[in-house]
Amino acid sequence: MGIQITPSLLNADFANLSAEAARIPSADWLHMDVMDNHFVPNLTLGAPVIEALSKAADQPIDAHLMIADPDRWAPAFAEAGAGSITFHVEAAAAPVRLAREIRGQGARASMALKPATPIEPYADLLPELDMVLIMTVEPGFGGQKFLDLCLPKIRRTRALLDQVGGDVWLQVDGGVSVETIERCAEAGADTFVAGSAVFGADDPGAMVETLRDLAVSACGH
Ligand code: DX5
Ligand code: ZN
Repeated sequence: MGIQITPSLLNADFANLSAEAARIPSADWLHMDVMDNHFVPNLTLGAPVIEALSKAADQPIDAHLMIADPDRWAPAFAEAGAGSITFHVEAAAAPVRLAREIRGQGARASMALKPATPIEPYADLLPELDMVLIMTVEPGFGGQKFLDLCLPKIRRTRALLDQVGGDVWLQVDGGVSVETIERCAEAGADTFVAGSAVFGADDPGAMVETLRDLAVSACGH
């Protein structure tokens, strides 16, 4: 898989999610941020909203679960129609069992790491996953400043994924914009979440293509 742009709808108009999705027709996925006010200090939406949007939108749903007890709740998001489900490893009691359960339901299984969580303890889990998400802000809110301190971890994760082989995607999320996307692509990311950069733009659809062009030229694909 090459470069993918997966806009976050956290900064979109929540009263018109399907219309917002239609403004970004070339987005590869719709990134939906699920927050529970336990794992992060914010509260957003749950499986019923994902289910409604998965029926109304053309793009598949990339559900980012920033919630406590994903072992308990993640399967409901597969049932709701999400094509990719990301759990935080800091919150998962049994990440291998959880990844297998998500895959068993026919969805892609993805593991997220907060900025201070290292990848190395999880190196042996990588073959169980379809994607790794490296957070480049502390999760919880859109519009935060990109943390450059996460770039070495993106590089180390890319090196581990290259060792493992296969096609595990490497996603970055938080503060991704025209200013920062090239740094992420050069470090080895291939899947890019952008919230405020896309939905704060005059033309969100054009911004998706601008971000894609920058990432493609930065990684030389
Ligand atoms: C933050 C969320 C992100 C957020 C990104 O916790 O996981 O997906 O929407 O927003 P920006 O791109 O504005 O940092
Ligand atoms: Zn997210």
